[in-house]
Amino acid sequence: MDLTLFISFGVLIGCAIGLSWFAGSDAPFVPTKMENIRKILKLANVGRGRKFYELGSGDGRVVIEAAKLEADAVGIEQSLIRVIYSRYTASRLKLKNAKFYHGNIFSKDYTDADVIYIYLLNKGVGRLEEKLKKELKKGSVVITQTYHFPNWKPYQSQGDFWLYRQ
Ligand SMILES: C[S@@+](CC[C@H](N)C(=O)[O-])C[C@H]1O[C@@H](n2cnc3c(N)ncnc32)[C@H](O)[C@@H]1O
Repeated sequence: MDLTLFISFGVLIGCAIGLSWFAGSDAPFVPTKMENIRKILKLANVGRGRKFYELGSGDGRVVIEAAKLEADAVGIEQSLIRVIYSRYTASRLKLKNAKFYHGNIFSKDYTDADVIYIYLLNKGVGRLEEKLKKELKKGSVVITQTYHFPNWKPYQSQGDFWLYRQ
């Protein structure tokens, strides 16, 4: 009986961890395809010394690729388990310029950003428009995937990606 209880508890914990891997308040975890990442980073001119932010950085793959291009790359992610995983990947690859913060994207400041990448659902993207318009310096670029800002006109769109310049 005790063993059954123990196993059931273990299964429950396992399911909770498994489900939390996919959860997210402004979008569930759906990673950007690897073949698209290099393309968008190139489009936005991500490279040495540029400050790159990813809002909702998932498993860290986009920040990692930006860091490989020598950008000063930062991911913000609300899932602690994904942040730990991303930090582990960055340290395994010895990418000191890839940083991951656990928290809510709406409570951070992006005034020093050169490039921002966002892959969230419509509502989250819409909520970010006003904040980014207020905070970003002139010339900075924002890329959204699939969903776009309600009012801000993109200067370029390519497949599922939309690019905006402040
Ligand atoms: C669609 S996934 C995209 C993941 C990653 N950007 C990529 O392209 O591979 C959205 C991510 O945003 C995170 N997220 C959603 N709302 C958030 C919020 N308010 N603050 C921080 N992270 C958030 C989710 O946990 C999820 O990992």
